[in-house]
Amino acid sequence: MKLYVTDFDGVEHELEAIEGWRVMEIIRDYGLPIKAECGGACLCGTCHVYVHPDWVDKLYPKTDDEEDRLMEDAVGVEDHSRLSCQILMSDALDGLRVTMAPGSRKD
Ligand code: FES
Repeated sequence: MKLYVTDFDGVEHELEAIEGWRVMEIIRDYGLPIKAECGGACLCGTCHVYVHPDWVDKLYPKTDDEEDRLMEDAVGVEDHSRLSCQILMSDALDGLRVTMAPGSRKD
């Protein structure tokens, strides 16, 4: 199962994804500098990614909590913004493409 992630320099990486894992965890464990301050508890907004337009409608909808975090805490939010800690990998998402968003870079 693959996950494609474009980093802050515009370089795309092919990551091996694991079913049931959060996209944020896969990005972090691969070694890309994602901040993800709250560790996936939907409390910080620093795991913000842009989902490729081809994939937006294939994700399940945002919860109210995810929407609140995006609106209150994330930087540079767009229509195709999601919190990567709230996306769980599954067969249906094999090949998902996301881009790391401003404000989510680990110092
Ligand atoms: Fe904090 Fe996703 S890691 S909201």
